[in-house]
This record gives sequence, C-alpha cells and structure tokens, in this order.
Amino acid sequence: MSRVFSGVQPTGNIHIGNYLGALRQFVDLQNDSECIYCIVDMHAITVPQDPKELKKHILDVAALYMAIGVDPKKSIVFVQSDVKQHAELGWILNCNTYMGELSRMTQYKQKKQKSENPSVGLFDYPVLMASDILLYDTDTVPVGNDQKQHIELARDIAIRVNGKYGKTFVVPDGRFMKSGARVMSLDDPTSKMSKSNPNEKSRICLLDEPNKVKKAIMSATTDSEGVIRYSVKEKPGISNLLDIYSAFSGKSVAKLVKEYEGHGYGDFKKDLVEVVNQSLDPIRNRYQEIRQSQELVDSLKEGAEKASEIAEKTIKRVKKNMGLGL
Ligand code: TYM
Repeated sequence: MSRVFSGVQPTGNIHIGNYLGALRQFVDLQNDSECIYCIVDMHAITVPQDPKELKKHILDVAALYMAIGVDPKKSIVFVQSDVKQHAELGWILNCNTYMGELSRMTQYKQKKQKSENPSVGLFDYPVLMASDILLYDTDTVPVGNDQKQHIELARDIAIRVNGKYGKTFVVPDGRFMKSGARVMSLDDPTSKMSKSNPNEKSRICLLDEPNKVKKAIMSATTDSEGVIRYSVKEKPGISNLLDIYSAFSGKSVAKLVKEYEGHGYGDFKKDLVEVVNQSLDPIRNRYQEIRQSQELVDSLKEGAEKASEIAEKTIKRVKKNMGLGL
C-alpha cells in the first residue's frame, strides 16, 4: 500500500483554495492508501503567533479535517509538535541542505518581504517540510501547486542522502489536482487566494456563512467583455471562477463555457454561489459538533502515538546509516 503524507498550518481562514488544492485529496486518498495527515504547528511559528490563538487553531484545523471527511479510523491524524522526531530529522536534513537551495525558494522570498525581521525558521521552513515527508517513507504528497518547489527540495534531499549514505529515504512525489491546484484571489485574480490577505472578500473560507459566500462571489473581480470564456491571460477573473465552478461541480470548464453561452456574469455568479454553498453545507453542518467533541482530542493523541512509532523507526535507520549515536 502506498503511503500518503500531507499537512496544513493551523492558522485561521482555511479557504476553498486549501480545500480544492489539497484537503479534498486527503479524503479521496484514504480508501486505497495509508494516509498520514498532520497539523503543522511548528511551521506556523516561523512567523509570529499568539499562543492562545495558535492552540485554538490547531483544534479548528483538526475539526475541519474530520468535517470534510478525513476519518481518524482510516487515517493517522496528529499535531506535528507532538511527534518530536520531526525536529530531530529536521536538524539532520539541515546538515544535508545548502544555503543556496533555500535562498532560491520563492515562498521564502515572498514571505521575507512581508516580515521586518524574518526568523531563521522562516528560511528553514522547507527543510522541516522535507523532514515531515521523509520521516514517514512517503510516496505521495497531496498539495496545491504553490508547494511544488518545496516537494522538489524534499526529493533532492532524499536523493542526496541516499547517494551519500546508502538507501535511507523513499523519494516522494507531489500530487496536484487538475482543477483547483491554484485557486486565485477573488479581488485580484492574478495572485493566489491566501489566508493572510487583509481583504476578507478575496477568499471564501470553508466555514463562511452562505450570505458571506454570496457577497464574495458576487463582488469577485471580472472584466468588461461580459462573455464567459476561459483565458487565464486575458480573462483571469472569470477563468478563476470557471475553475472553482468546475472543481466543485465536477463539470469540465469546456462544458461550463458551453452551458453559459449567451449568459452574463451575473447569472453565472448566482449559480456558482449555489454550487459552492451546496458543497460547503455538509462541512459547516458537521464542524461544530466535531470541534466540541472529546473524540477529536482523543483521536489526535492516538494519532501522535501511531505517528511516533513510524517516525522512530525512520530516525533509527537514519542515525545508523549516518553513524550517529552509540
Ligand atoms: P498551508 O497551510 O499554507 O496550505 C495548505 C494546503 O493548501 C494548499 N493551498 C492552495 N491550493 C490551491 N490554491 C490556493 N490558493 C492554495 N493556497 C494554499 C497548499 O498548497 C497546501 O497543500 N507548506 C505547507 C504545509 C506543510 C506540508 C508539509 C504539506 C508543512 N509540511 C508536508 C505537505 C507535506 C503549506 O503550505 O500549508
């Protein structure tokens, strides 16, 4: 059985980009793979966090995992900092990663600009991510497009270590959705939908009220041509909305374009509101109950125990191959 690993940062505002790019893959994969899903709190602290908020968001994201359909009986779900081997392997991988490689990471370059005094952790973020992945002998990593470069680095590190010390790591592959791998901002469709955009109407969060979803979609930036056709370059706004519609409905973009021939953006947007709200309804309905349940905490504890067992085996192998310890 192939092994799947992925993670989401416990920050607020989990949006439909996170869902369409990554989270819905988590559910699809859990029936025929051994899946491990993590809430990566140590990645979150690469930028300043309020401790109370962070603690709350860890459980928020865990509850969202379950509300979208991740089943802790089928998949291992846990919090990253509860498994100490992530940091341990992170250090070892640091010693097998070059400064130049990390300097070239586009996400670091972007985030560095937003931070007055970027931490070493922010620079090192991709190595901790490689550690997450390699610790579990992962074959497949379901993520959004923006993580491609980080997955490449994890692969490069694995290949490098295997070359230096003999077969130590499985070389992982990224898994990206055809539609939804890069959902764009609703207010500026040339930039990625993000959790941190100060404009709330730039994104649709998974727990947004139906009316908020409606407002965000109805006010999404389009163009003045008024014709529904797909061209990311010429018509990034309507193309993004077509992608979102396609990802939620399962209909191809070509089919949608045909269906809406002769219709205006208003009609299209109204239908999109329905499609999105219908998909989010079951998530919103299940979330509150799960978030308040003791079962949620229990399953995370159990998940951390199971994950630690696998992680410890990898650490032993790595230390042996590298000549570390007694
Ligand atoms: P995070 O929390 O920033 O994002 C979670 C997932 O959502 C995807 N994503 C998107 N997909 C499509 N369109 C968007 N606009 C969009 N924005 C975000 C991300 O690609 C991601 O899959 N670095 C990871 C967390 C991580 C991780 C790992 C993932 C840490 N260790 C190991 C996989 C394996 C991240 O960006 O989280």
